[in-house]
Amino acid sequence: MASLNVELKARDPDPAGTLARCLALGAADGGVLAQRDTYFMARRGRLKLRVEEGALGGELIAYRRDDATDAAESGYVLAPLAAPEELAEALDAALGTTVVVSKRRRLFLWEGVRIHLDEVEDLGTFVEFEAALADAGDLATARAKLARLRSELGIADDTLVAVGYADLLMDGPQALLRAAADAMRNAYAPYSRFKVGAAVRGVSGALYAGANVENVAYPQGQCAEASALGAMVAAGESSITAVAVVAERTEHCPPCGGCRQRLAEFGGADTPVHLGRPGVVPLILTLGELLPGAFDREALEA
Ligand code: THU
Repeated sequence: MASLNVELKARDPDPAGTLARCLALGAADGGVLAQRDTYFMARRGRLKLRVEEGALGGELIAYRRDDATDAAESGYVLAPLAAPEELAEALDAALGTTVVVSKRRRLFLWEGVRIHLDEVEDLGTFVEFEAALADAGDLATARAKLARLRSELGIADDTLVAVGYADLLMDGPQALLRAAADAMRNAYAPYSRFKVGAAVRGVSGALYAGANVENVAYPQGQCAEASALGAMVAAGESSITAVAVVAERTEHCPPCGGCRQRLAEFGGADTPVHLGRPGVVPLILTLGELLPGAFDREALEA
């Protein structure tokens, strides 16, 4: 990788206080940037395309990061782009998009270190330090600067975040809802015209999505949840940690009785089921709430 960064990221419960401390440090104010990063499936490391509001063009950034809370190093290659929207379309078609991270970033510069005060859509507020070794000095110097900044800004251990925003988003309900909504667009529902998409997260962290598939012989139709579970089983998993259901024509689509039983086969009473659509806070019910008194293995073995 062409360049090296040392980075630290933390949740920021007090963005106004952090801003005041940055100003008190005498860090140079770089203003506010609105950035949208689209992540694509990459064979090695991460690949993201960054577009900045108001800027011409964009950047394609390939990078690796070791997930760590302690000033992690990451190598990266950055390619300036003249036609970012077209390239995003091409990469999406060829590789597939994993997640989009949108944020407002207040940038400060302090002794060659970039300080980011980030407001990330669907995630909240964060503070991040990024020291490119070309600007901040050698590795030891860069790490010392980050340690100093950490103490100046009062960043507590329990706020440190080891993974990137993309990982945090992919872990969250919004990623599940997006996967369900994407599948819903391909639903085959010519009879009911009621398109449904469902997504389940396997214990591995992977997402599996499915849509309803109807049939001219009506009872042969299959619900979206059954399709999603089928995709998961075909991939070799048999345990779910979360579910999302999205329907085109209703705000919250409650899973049908049969699907509650199907989901219960692979989840627990506490498994959350997110009903809604991407970009909106979902209604969250647990499988236990959706299917009280379920017929389960205990009942079978009694
Ligand atoms: N449907 C689902 O896919 N999941 C549910 O949990 C509720 C209903 C589908 C089945 C059918 O294709 C259409 O919605 C209308 O009932």
